[in-house]
Order: sequence, then C-alpha cells, then structure tokens
Amino acid sequence: MKVTVVGAGAVGATCADNIARKELAQELVLLDIKEGLAEGKAQDMMQTAALLGFDTRITGSTNDYSKTAGSDVVVITSGLPRKPGMTREELIGTNAGIVKGVCENILKYSPDAIIIVISNPMDTMTYLALQSTGLPKNRIIGMGGTLDSSRFKYQLSQHLGCSPADLNALVVGGHGDTTMIPLIRFATWNSIPVTDYLTEEQQKQIVADTMVGGATLTKLIGTSAWYAPGAAGAALVESIVRDEKKLFTCCVSLEGEYGQSDICLGVPVVIGKNGWEKIVDFKLNDEEKELFNKSADAVRSMNDVLKTL
Ligand SMILES: NC(=O)c1ccc[n+]([C@@H]2O[C@H](COP(=O)([O-])OP(=O)(O)OC[C@H]3O[C@@H](n4cnc5c(N)ncnc54)[C@H](O)[C@@H]3O)[C@@H](O)[C@H]2O)c1
Repeated sequence: MKVTVVGAGAVGATCADNIARKELAQELVLLDIKEGLAEGKAQDMMQTAALLGFDTRITGSTNDYSKTAGSDVVVITSGLPRKPGMTREELIGTNAGIVKGVCENILKYSPDAIIIVISNPMDTMTYLALQSTGLPKNRIIGMGGTLDSSRFKYQLSQHLGCSPADLNALVVGGHGDTTMIPLIRFATWNSIPVTDYLTEEQQKQIVADTMVGGATLTKLIGTSAWYAPGAAGAALVESIVRDEKKLFTCCVSLEGEYGQSDICLGVPVVIGKNGWEKIVDFKLNDEEKELFNKSADAVRSMNDVLKTL
C-alpha cells in the first residue's frame, strides 16, 4: 500500500504520524508546497521508527507529485487553517484553488487513488473535489463527521464519567459550527441510551459544546486543532487499506439519500477498500430532518460561492 498526505502542516503531519505508527502503508509520502517542510517532517518521523518499531517508509516532497505516483489513498490537508474568531467558511476563497490544483496533480500520477478531503470548508471542498475530478463518487470522502463524532463522545464521556471508547454516538450534517447535528437520541453507552443518565440540560450542553468543539480549541491554541483531526483522517485510511467496513460519518455525495441531491454532506457510511461503499440511510424524526435540511441549505449556499470564484 502507498499513501500520500498532501499538506505537511499540523493536521497532515499528525495524520502521517498515525499512519506510520499503525503501519497502514509500506510507503508514505508527505508533500507540501513549502520548501523542505515535508522532507524535514518525514525525516523527523523516520527517526522515531527505531524507537516505535514501525516499518513504514516515509519520504517528503516539495511539490514534486511524481514521488506520489501509484498512491492507493491520498489525504488532502493543504490549505489555510482558521484563526480565532474565524469560521471554516471564511477559508473558501484560498482553499478552493489549493484543493482543485492538488486534485489535478494527484490524479496525474495516481489515477486510481481514493481521496480523503480534510481542508476546510470541508463539505464544500469535498463537493469541489468531486465536481472537478469527475471521479466515481465512492472515491471522494470528506473527513469531518468522523472527528465531530469523536468530539461528541468526548463531551458525553465528561458528563457520564466513562470511557469515550465505550460510547457509540454520531454527528451528521455539515461540518460547520452551526450545521453539524449531534444525534444524542441515538447515542449509547455500551448499548444503553445515554439519555437515561443525562438531564435535558446536560444533553443540551453536550450538543452545544460538541458543535463549537473546533472553535473552542482554536480559541485556546490560536489555530485549529490537529491531534483529533489527524487521528480521524488516519482512522479512515485504516478502514480503507484494511478493508475494515467500519461505519463512520463522512461527507459523501448524496443522490436522494436523506432527501438530498447534488450535495456532499455528512452521513453514516461503510468505509472499505472501494472508498465509501454504502450509505446507511436511517430514519430521522421530524425535528432532526428539519435540522438536516437546514444544514443542507447552508452547505448548498456555500457551494454556490464556488461559482463566483
Ligand atoms: N475537516 C476537518 O475536520 C478539519 C480539522 C482540522 C483542520 N482542518 C483543515 O485542514 C487544513 C489544514 O490545517 P492545518 O492546521 O494542518 O494547517 P497548517 O497551516 O498547519 O498546514 C497546512 C499546510 O498546507 C500547505 N499548503 C498550502 N498550499 C499548498 C499546496 N498548494 N500544496 C501543498 N501544500 C500546501 C502549507 O504549506 C501548510 O504546511 C485547514 O484547511 C483546516 O481548516 C479540517
């Protein structure tokens, strides 16, 4: 297996680090536009191999896509991150050009790659990647809900005093602060509904804290977070290269599922060797449906901005 991570910044490097530690690929290429950055980080990571005991060969590249040739999976993290007070949506102008160019370059050398989009605004960048490459829809996966669901489990675990690993919980819809939908009604603690243990007030707090999870960290750190985003990207790579068929919320092209079309939005999907293999279309109640449709409207108006760039 060969995996490329484009963007050797905070998220890209963390994602690559997770991929190497888990030996998800024999070859791992880190690529960045900034001279020497990817080579330096690749070397630094390789110098942990003897300590951590992994065999993945990591190389860096300054914008030379020939080194990425024959990649099975490509993770795109290149682009500006948000600063405190910014929304993910404000990044669209700069990041659209970057993501489009990266997709073109990648496909020149890896025409069969499955592409995972992390750059923000992720829902729109995923839609852009799908539209501009014309690839089969199953090969374009946006990473947002995977992270948001993990953040949701963290918030739940804080209130329940339990291990996040014992929780099942998902966030669907867009990846924006106001567009994501943490579905607390479906969340369970080892199969028991969490709502049995939480007051209405606690439930509202958990949902609200999950929705601003990214913004809270951006305020604390001064730039957007990278440990959980990098780990979430690597979890998707793992499910693809090991054909695990795990169920994750990912941003994928909808063609009538959840009542939506011509949009990429976060829904539960099975991730395996063919990319996203199946959408799990489950029944939302009226309130959840309304939130989902509102989320779709917001993402669609962001997608419309692409036409003006
Ligand atoms: N989807 C999610 O859940 C999620 C979570 C966190 C961050 N993000 C997004 O991921 C992106 C990266 O965040 P970060 O914190 O790693 O930022 P960062 O600034 O640390 O890294 C971005 C890297 O991209 C590189 N880059 C810019 N243009 C490039 C190009 N044309 N080709 C190759 N590399 C290029 C930069 O040189 C930089 O090293 C941002 O858009 C951020 O908003 C998404």
